[in-house]
Amino acid sequence: MDAQRSVLQILLLAVILFLIQCVVAQKVSISSPIERRALLDLRSSLGLRAKNWPIKADPCTSWLGVQCQNGAVRSISVSGLRRTRLGRLKPRFNVDSLVNLTRLVSFNASGFLLPGSMPDWFGNQLVNLEVLDLRSCNVSGSIRGSLGNLSRLTSLYLCNNNLAGSIPATLGHLKNLKILDLSVNSLTGSIPPSFGFLGNIERLELASNYLSGSIPPGLGSLQGLQVLNVSDNNLSGSIPVQFGDLSRLVELDLSKNSLFRSLPEEFKMLKSLQKMVIGNNKLEGHLPVDLFSNLVELQVVDFSRNKLDGALNGTFWSMPNLRFLDVSSNNFTGPLPGPHSNSSAATAAEFNLSNNFLYGTLNFSLGMFKFIDLSGNYFQGKVINDSEKNATIDKNCLQAVLKQRSLEDCRLFYTDRGLSFDNFGLQDTIQPPPADSSSASRKQWIFVLAGVGGGLGFIVILVLVLVLLLRRCDKGIRNQTGSADVGPVPEGDSPQLPKNPTILAGSGDPFTYEQLLHATGNFSETNLIKHGHSGDLFHGILEGGIHVVIKKVNLSSFKKESYVMELDLFRKLTHSRFVPLLGHCLEHETEKLLVYKYMPNGDLANSFYRATNMEDDSLQSLDWITRLKVATGAVEGLCYLHHECNPPLVHRDVQASSILLDDKFEVRLGSLSEISRQEGDTHQNVLTRLLWNHQTSEPGPSDSGSSPTNCAYDVYCFGKVLLELITGKLGIGKAEDASTKEWLEQTLPCISIYEKELVTEIMDPSLIVDEDLLEEVWAMAIVAKSCLNPKPSKRPSMKHILKALENPLKVVREESFSPARLRTSSSSRSWSSAFFGSWRQSSSESATNSGHPNREGFSGFRQPGRVGSHCSAGMEHSSSHKRLSNEIFPEPVEMKDIGEIR
Ligand SMILES: *[C@@H]1O[C@H](CO)[C@@H](O)[C@H](O)[C@H]1NC(C)=O
Ligand SMILES: *[C@@H]1O[C@H](CO)[C@@H](O)[C@H](O)[C@H]1NC(C)=O
Ligand SMILES: *[C@@H]1O[C@H](CO)[C@@H](O)[C@H](O)[C@H]1NC(C)=O
Ligand SMILES: *[C@@H]1O[C@H](CO)[C@@H](O)[C@H](O)[C@H]1NC(C)=O
Ligand SMILES: *[C@@H]1O[C@H](CO)[C@@H](O)[C@H](O)[C@H]1NC(C)=O
Ligand SMILES: *[C@@H]1O[C@H](CO)[C@@H](O)[C@H](O)[C@H]1NC(C)=O
Ligand SMILES: *[C@@H]1O[C@H](CO)[C@@H](O)[C@H](O)[C@H]1NC(C)=O
Ligand SMILES: *[C@@H]1O[C@H](CO)[C@@H](O)[C@H](O)[C@H]1NC(C)=O
Repeated sequence: MDAQRSVLQILLLAVILFLIQCVVAQKVSISSPIERRALLDLRSSLGLRAKNWPIKADPCTSWLGVQCQNGAVRSISVSGLRRTRLGRLKPRFNVDSLVNLTRLVSFNASGFLLPGSMPDWFGNQLVNLEVLDLRSCNVSGSIRGSLGNLSRLTSLYLCNNNLAGSIPATLGHLKNLKILDLSVNSLTGSIPPSFGFLGNIERLELASNYLSGSIPPGLGSLQGLQVLNVSDNNLSGSIPVQFGDLSRLVELDLSKNSLFRSLPEEFKMLKSLQKMVIGNNKLEGHLPVDLFSNLVELQVVDFSRNKLDGALNGTFWSMPNLRFLDVSSNNFTGPLPGPHSNSSAATAAEFNLSNNFLYGTLNFSLGMFKFIDLSGNYFQGKVINDSEKNATIDKNCLQAVLKQRSLEDCRLFYTDRGLSFDNFGLQDTIQPPPADSSSASRKQWIFVLAGVGGGLGFIVILVLVLVLLLRRCDKGIRNQTGSADVGPVPEGDSPQLPKNPTILAGSGDPFTYEQLLHATGNFSETNLIKHGHSGDLFHGILEGGIHVVIKKVNLSSFKKESYVMELDLFRKLTHSRFVPLLGHCLEHETEKLLVYKYMPNGDLANSFYRATNMEDDSLQSLDWITRLKVATGAVEGLCYLHHECNPPLVHRDVQASSILLDDKFEVRLGSLSEISRQEGDTHQNVLTRLLWNHQTSEPGPSDSGSSPTNCAYDVYCFGKVLLELITGKLGIGKAEDASTKEWLEQTLPCISIYEKELVTEIMDPSLIVDEDLLEEVWAMAIVAKSCLNPKPSKRPSMKHILKALENPLKVVREESFSPARLRTSSSSRSWSSAFFGSWRQSSSESATNSGHPNREGFSGFRQPGRVGSHCSAGMEHSSSHKRLSNEIFPEPVEMKDIGEIR
């Protein structure tokens, strides 16, 4: 009984199972053995896993990504599937068996690696294919022209592969194509004009290839086009005016090409446009009139980095859907009308109008924007409500804000356009006109020569010396045999090596060419220190082990007079603060050699770097005492040039790399080649570069030869050196670029005579200073700031800087102890009290602008005739005349204060 029952039960179960299987199989099981075979082949050629495509089960019902219709395979998606370990070893674009799936409509391998090239039969065999998705499959080779035979194709995705070669024109035959995405490949050639026949196309994406040529105007006839993206190619030519007919266009990306000419007027017809990205081209000309008022659907607009010009009249403020507008780095000019205060679009969108030529006042509140970038324009006047941090307004001509353009820059811009400039709200600031370097002439050179010599008599002597030198030269050359480079010099003509080079003065002793050749290992590369401005500098060791620096002046690349003038200067520089010249060798015809004392500690710039590159910078950087010593030493040298030389000289190349340091870190000034007479006019320099001059040949303030030849210029440069010493940020002295300016604008506000602690914000973090030393740092910072006064006439003289640095605590202490006393009494007045007095009363002085009679006379920079007396006598004047001191140790100008004063 029991056995019978269980047999029945099993039978019943079997029948039910069979029936179920029949029903299922009837509905979807694969009918064609050829197709089944093909799928199994595909399974093995792609190396798919049994988990996803189980070999025993029916593909139509159980295989992931396989869909059938009436027993035939209709679509296959291997996207997202993983290969077996074996299959992963050698992935290939091997899908040959698809040939036998004649009803296949869709093949999707997106993201599934198929390295190798697309088979040619694809186009001829898969005649029913409507969707081919090979995105990110690492397909290489070219796009097969046969794909043009797949007349039913609606979507063709080949983006993000390694496809190369040109786009086959046959793709233009795909009448049913709605989506064609070939972006992010390495396609070359041009866009086939046949694309104009893709009558049903909706998305055409060709971005990030190397396509060149122009955009076929035929694309303008694609009535259904909604997305056109050809960005990041090499397309040139103009934007077809026919694009104005693309009435369904929603997204247009033509960015990052080389398209030029203007934006077609017809663009204002693109009523459906939401995204318009045409930045990074070479477009120029005006924006189409009404563009912004017509295209109300626009959400994203990017016109950046073109050369579009004309006015931006602010219609975009009121565009209802705008979220992002970037018209930066164009040539837009004119004033910018503000948005209506109730304009909702303006507050919701992000605007970038930076780096144009917009000007005028900002008569609207910046607080109303989500974000707006107005930097790099020429807006002037005051800013309304900058308190919100939703706007960037750097690099304009705005009053009372930091990081603005220079006065000169702004003034030039406004005067060039015949507009009036508010001068940052200042009354009228006089800056010295930049020296005109173009007017250099031989005459002037001679004039300077005469000046340096101090008279005609000297010239006669000089000419005699020159003649003697030339004779000597001639002799030397005649004595040389063989090649000019290494000609041996007869014993008798060879001068003896100086026994003790340190006692040599003036232009030093003559050396033989051979001696110096020997010292530098034939001027070997390894001994080259650098290619200086006036010659190549080599490290050398003389017989006897004396280290020297040898400058090789090649007359074919440097002016002949320069080294002669340099020798002459050394005859007159008797001060110990300058790098000593040990000797010279003029016997070679084209290569003149000057020999200088070797400075073991290099220059300030590299001894700083060397220190901070060590493991532990806090221990290794120059300590404060040394920094102060270096600063003082440099001032001593400059003081000598400015005040003690006759005629007075200016250095014109004051920077860290010009300050050489001997073994005891005593300063020896180098880079003397820019030294020239101290005058307000435009005489060219006298000397070629001497030693340790610019590391690079980037144009600096002194490279141009147009440096103002007055003390104030040196003082300004020295101010930067002082800041370098305080902050440890070497390199600002050299550069005159925007970032330096910006840095200065950030740094200077941290120097206040009222607030010592502020200076710690900018102080070199590796400096270890106690309270007393911090006061010294503070004092030096105050001196630095006054040196950097934008008004040359307000900068202190070197004499006063020297006094201040010799006694830094006086600068800060006397003031804080009894400022009232210092301001009233004149008998007990010291230089430092004068210094502070000027600061205290400067605001009232500026407000009334009632310059006293001596004001201009003692500024010294506009009256060259009085320079000498000012430079040497300024000290005494300042201690007895209150008003003079105002000129000599002036207040640092702060933008904010200026605004208030006005
Ligand atoms: C297609 O099917 C036929 C018939 O079974 C077979 O001979 C041929 O090899 C198949 N083609 C491919 C590429 O697998
Ligand atoms: C291909 O498959 C991926 C992943 O499943 C999917 O995101 C994509 O939309 C598919 N392609 C098409 C054309 O349907
Ligand atoms: C893609 O194919 C290239 C050769 O065409 C190959 O070097 C590279 O490794 C492949 N990338 C991947 C992710 O397989
Ligand atoms: C497919 O296109 C190629 C050229 O691209 C052509 O030679 C061939 O005849 C076409 N095949 C069919 C079946 O239309
Ligand atoms: C155009 O295509 C590139 C590359 O695929 C893409 O980065 C860019 O966002 C696209 N442009 C638009 C407007 O979507
Ligand atoms: C901006 O200029 C266009 C064309 O000249 C004009 O139609 C529009 O009214 C102007 N908008 C404003 C706010 O001035
Ligand atoms: C745009 O400005 C640049 C830089 O000032 C200038 O060189 C160029 O000529 C200007 N282009 C046009 C079309 O005005
Ligand atoms: C200003 O920016 C902040 C932070 O991005 C944002 O929360 C705030 O809404 C913005 N202000 C306006 C007026 O959009």
